[in-house]
Amino acid sequence: MRLDIFTLFPQWFEWFETQRHVRNAIAGGSELRYLDYRATTPLSAGQVDDSPYGGGAGMVMRVDVVDAALQAAYGDNRSGRRIVLMTPSGRPFDEELASELAREPDLTLLCGRYEGVDERVREHLVTDAVSIGRYVLSGGELAAMVVADAVLRKLPGALGHADSAMEESFSAALEGHPEYPHYTRPPTYRGWDIPEILVSGDHERVREWRRERSRERGASDREGA
Ligand SMILES: C[S@@+](CC[C@H](N)C(=O)[O-])C[C@H]1O[C@@H](n2cnc3c(N)ncnc32)[C@H](O)[C@@H]1O
Repeated sequence: MRLDIFTLFPQWFEWFETQRHVRNAIAGGSELRYLDYRATTPLSAGQVDDSPYGGGAGMVMRVDVVDAALQAAYGDNRSGRRIVLMTPSGRPFDEELASELAREPDLTLLCGRYEGVDERVREHLVTDAVSIGRYVLSGGELAAMVVADAVLRKLPGALGHADSAMEESFSAALEGHPEYPHYTRPPTYRGWDIPEILVSGDHERVREWRRERSRERGASDREGA
């Protein structure tokens, strides 16, 4: 995958690239780029924002600045490329969307800042608008990292153990339910015991127990527990 993240703060992603599954994805052939809107802004003195028409607090990122950044990276040839605007009012990000994006050969994430981005970006320049939740962050960088993390870990070789991604929360293997609980040593701690079945050696019963816990968690999610 070629993943491009447009941001005013490329240095935020230095930490992200140190994460093992991200390094693994890169070693496996994926390319990550962080593109600074200020590097290509057509305005003087690195300007990227302006005051909102109609008045109101804060500044808005300009459509010509975002367009210039996309032009510099791709020219007019953006067909087929998934370009995602990070915004609180977008499609809720979930495991299904992560899998969908992980199948893309080319993916672009646009981080907003300030009061957000001129609406014409959403109307004319992107293919998707995605939200990581119904709350407001100060900028799209953390949201883009959430999306990039969930997407990159799905690429072949990103996780040390391929099975880790097969049977985890919301996967088809668990019928879309959350994952079952895990336990490790010690078997008893402060009087808290692990479920005996897990040390029974009966793999079929362990599998059934896990499936059952997973379904239970799915049911309590729906009930809001
Ligand atoms: C301060 S926010 C703008 C919030 C906007 N004024 C509103 O009320 O919806 C600045 C940027 O952070 C990013 N952002 C904030 N919360 C987000 C979320 N929940 N999901 C995705 N992106 C988010 C977006 O890129 C947004 O343009």
